[in-house]
Amino acid sequence: MIPVVKPYLPSREKLDKYLDGIYERAWLTNNGPLAQELTARLEEYLGVENLLLVANGTLALQVAYRALGASGHEHGEQQEAITTPFTFIATASSLKWDGVQPVFADIDPNTWCINPENIEQAITSNTRAIVPVHVFGNACDVEAIDEIACRHGLKVIYDASHAFAVQYKGESLLKHGDAATLSFHATKLFHTGEGGAIIFKRKEDLERAKQMISFGITGPESIGEIGINAKMNELQAAMGLCVLDEMEENLTARADVWQRYQEALGNAVQLQAKGHALSYNYAYFPVVFNSEEQAVRVVAALKDNGVLARRYFYPSLESVERLEAKVNQPVSKDIASRILCLPIYSSMPTEILEKITGVVTEVIKG
Ligand SMILES: Cc1ncc(COP(=O)(O)O)c(C=O)c1O
Repeated sequence: MIPVVKPYLPSREKLDKYLDGIYERAWLTNNGPLAQELTARLEEYLGVENLLLVANGTLALQVAYRALGASGHEHGEQQEAITTPFTFIATASSLKWDGVQPVFADIDPNTWCINPENIEQAITSNTRAIVPVHVFGNACDVEAIDEIACRHGLKVIYDASHAFAVQYKGESLLKHGDAATLSFHATKLFHTGEGGAIIFKRKEDLERAKQMISFGITGPESIGEIGINAKMNELQAAMGLCVLDEMEENLTARADVWQRYQEALGNAVQLQAKGHALSYNYAYFPVVFNSEEQAVRVVAALKDNGVLARRYFYPSLESVERLEAKVNQPVSKDIASRILCLPIYSSMPTEILEKITGVVTEVIKG
């Protein structure tokens, strides 16, 4: 089966050298030299400050909520955070896990990001934070969201899991919000096997989060915070350093696949409307069909041809009962019912791409 995403495997030789170093030092975790090197190199590559590496993208969200005081555990009443229903389950379940009720605000039908007008309407006296998602690497309306958050005294934590290396108005998109989180899962554009990061706006939040990810320990015999173990280890950091070295080749190859998909299918399906002044990272190729029935037929036809396309993101999260946020979200529900992510990875051969576009075109023509 051709997978929807394929982990990028960097030079084995280079990885072996890093592993030799880990064996020599016998230093495997707890902010080792490779984690420190990766932190510095990512800050430089992304053009950001106050970056904290963590064990995965879900913990990145949870630690960011806590470090910014937007966690349900710090207040007597049930706290709420406004987020999008059109995202991976971790964005909303991490809130619920932390005692915060996710309240959904519907998305824009073209960009598929949270619509700021719907955020405003969802704010109550219990709202602590807004958690928008730069979905598929597309920028949310960051100016409008900042303005709403400022007016209502809310924290903004962007789930930027898909937005590695995306630039907005000539600067990293990750600079927006009180924090932005990244996932470095194996299937992401940049990865460390499992891993993630938080980019904080303020240094004091970074310092607090540094303690939190290491059990709240502040010194050999002192505990300053209730913490958790969310540290990135040296093996993860080694993989990240190797993948980062090959980022430009990876991006160029993906851009090529993405553009060829666009040429073949751009007029036949709905593509995501890219925000203005935005660079794209070609991490996904999502397409929206005319109807759910058509999308389902495409999945089946691709499967018959040995290709795995995912209904991603489906279902729209207001339908997940355990989230207890059942207010209907018609735009998200509609897009989620008709969307598929087609396979995209840097080593995708031309004949596979042609096979996929051929099958999709045939189903659309009926
Ligand atoms: C939008 C979004 N948020 C959060 C996550 C969770 O990241 P991780 O798998 O690294 O925990 C993912 C990843 O898969 C994601 O796509």
